[in-house]
Amino acid sequence: MNSPVSSRRPSKVSIVGAGSVGSSMAYACLIRGSADVVALYDIAKDKVEAEVADLAHGSEFVPSKVMGGADVNDTAGSDIVIITAGARQRPGQSRLDLAGVNAGIVSSLMPQLVEQSPSAIFIIVTNPCDVLAVVAQQVSGLPEHRVFSSGTLLDTSRLRYLISQWANVATPHVHAAIVGEHGDSEFPVWSTANISGVPIRDWTVDGDRVFTDEVLADLGREAAMAAYKIIDGKGATNYGIGLTGARLTEVLLSATRSVLPLSGIVHGVHGVDGVALSLPRLVSGEGIGAAVPIPLDATELEKFQASAEQLHETLSSIAK
Ligand code: LAC
Repeated sequence: MNSPVSSRRPSKVSIVGAGSVGSSMAYACLIRGSADVVALYDIAKDKVEAEVADLAHGSEFVPSKVMGGADVNDTAGSDIVIITAGARQRPGQSRLDLAGVNAGIVSSLMPQLVEQSPSAIFIIVTNPCDVLAVVAQQVSGLPEHRVFSSGTLLDTSRLRYLISQWANVATPHVHAAIVGEHGDSEFPVWSTANISGVPIRDWTVDGDRVFTDEVLADLGREAAMAAYKIIDGKGATNYGIGLTGARLTEVLLSATRSVLPLSGIVHGVHGVDGVALSLPRLVSGEGIGAAVPIPLDATELEKFQASAEQLHETLSSIAK
């Protein structure tokens, strides 16, 4: 007779950093059942133990198990490790302003985390996430498909939400992506954006084309500036990025082969080489595939290269 206890190895995601981003991500992973085990790790013992206890008190109501604390051993054997630890943006600061201090934090964390979970996929959420994805890959020497950043997955979700509101259709019918830096130089690829196959500029509501150039510019700006507005209002963004990490965990642990805008190191796509920035990527259980060279018109190509240049500059400034 077969044992009633499943012999399948439980899947595990570890979230590093128990600040508002890491804790919200752990909560999102738990209530969505993104992985069988969700571990939360931070060096701030009282804080992380309090967050883990609070999350564990809802165990009866969620499909996943939570664990964690101030011992890096708690992350051992993870399939996925998500790094959220580091200094956060203060009002008026850009994400790139955090590069120096957070590069140090990510560099010291990576070797310990890799030692605990040598075959995991590592996702950098700490900002500037594109720059830190390169740092994490270089420090660890792991294959590039296993070290990347959430990049513009959240920004793209913000954009699709804004478009869906304006078009009055549900978000899954909106096909549009923000590419480039997860930061001020990012931009939406309007040339191929569509709603259920209808080019976005041709979409009508009550017979009128509602996505004028002005509307598109406003929506792009609103998506790109969303974090600043939220930081002004409540000090940090946490729920949107929390759900982003949970969704990414689910896609990586499943065999759905989704295509998502993520930031991995790019080699010779649209004239860009050696920096991480977002383009659509095929996501599988192995991590991310090569960047999908989404067609860009001349203006978009210029913006993409400018975004890459900005990231190159930040990378060389912290290398000094
Ligand atoms: C944001 C942070 C995660 O965009 O950069 O909300």
